[in-house]
Amino acid sequence: MKRHPSLHPLSRDHHHALVQARKLSLAAATNDPGQVQPAAEGFAAFWESDLQAHFAQEERIVLPLLARAAPDSDEIRETLNQHAEIRRLVAGLNDKLARRAALEASLLAALGESLRRHIRFEESELFPAVESLATEEELARMNEELETERSRAGQARCALAPKPQATEGSR
Ligand SMILES: [Fe+2]
Ligand SMILES: [Fe+2]
Repeated sequence: MKRHPSLHPLSRDHHHALVQARKLSLAAATNDPGQVQPAAEGFAAFWESDLQAHFAQEERIVLPLLARAAPDSDEIRETLNQHAEIRRLVAGLNDKLARRAALEASLLAALGESLRRHIRFEESELFPAVESLATEEELARMNEELETERSRAGQARCALAPKPQATEGSR
């Protein structure tokens, strides 16, 4: 799938998130507390350092861009619903970690599956909608905002995207 360069930083995050989702699913499948616990802790750290900010950037920068072109967009509603569901699962996970309570493998399995489904949805539906409805100028501005936010948030390692090339004709 050819992605507009302005969305590369977020797509790169998706790659990292899929790796994390897979770790959750694999640990859940073992049903072994010795595997479930470190996977849960690893995911909680990834959420704190990266994924939480990624969700916020999509909500603050990407969705408003789509909303200007398509205020009643199903993609916006679905993205927000899925974000809420994943945040709810992460809150449950963090609560158990904080209380040092037993972690059910089913919670990790649900989180891994929800995250995987969410990324598939964004790559196959949300991002194509943004690419088809936003102008090159809007996409370039969105990329600048993303880069600014990310350098401020210290997410540089995922933001090494090439600058959008308006003349490439890749839409
Ligand atoms: Fe998202
Ligand atoms: Fe995303």
